[in-house]
Amino acid sequence: MEAATINPQAASGPALYAELRDSAAALFSGERNAIANAANLGALLWQALPGLNWAGFYLWSGEDLVLGPFQGKVACVRIGLGKGVCGRAAQERKTQIVADVHAFPGHIACDADSRSEIVVPLTLGQRLLGVLDLDSPLLNRFDATDAAGLEALAQLWIGASDHP
Ligand code: SME
Repeated sequence: MEAATINPQAASGPALYAELRDSAAALFSGERNAIANAANLGALLWQALPGLNWAGFYLWSGEDLVLGPFQGKVACVRIGLGKGVCGRAAQERKTQIVADVHAFPGHIACDADSRSEIVVPLTLGQRLLGVLDLDSPLLNRFDATDAAGLEALAQLWIGASDHP
């Protein structure tokens, strides 16, 4: 499978994300199940991006964010709108980059190793679908390149999948 050929040493920054878009498009090809595609996108990110300790989805139930497909340690199952970094991204519909989670009031510590975090909201028009959440044990792991790259991958997942 093409995803397995990604070598993070061979590409970084925008070039790595360009490769990831190609890999994700290949993984989604012919499959519109949102959970299956989310599971593969989470695994792809986990495999390709260095310095992660969690990568996955929280999906909007209509009442709260519910744990979806992920890689990493077991995590909290439900997050209310506005709660933690995930809830803020969902509420503001804006990507959140937290350089030091210890300095983020209300951060929800699922894994005590996490030191920085990025959360991308997933929306279809006005509709909230959930969030894509990546955690790192490194301080200040995520930057604007990650935000742009992950937002593009999130758009790819939204467009390639059915959201009944
Ligand atoms: N830290 C997140 C909760 C989810 S875990 O990191 C997997 C937050 O504050 O929203």
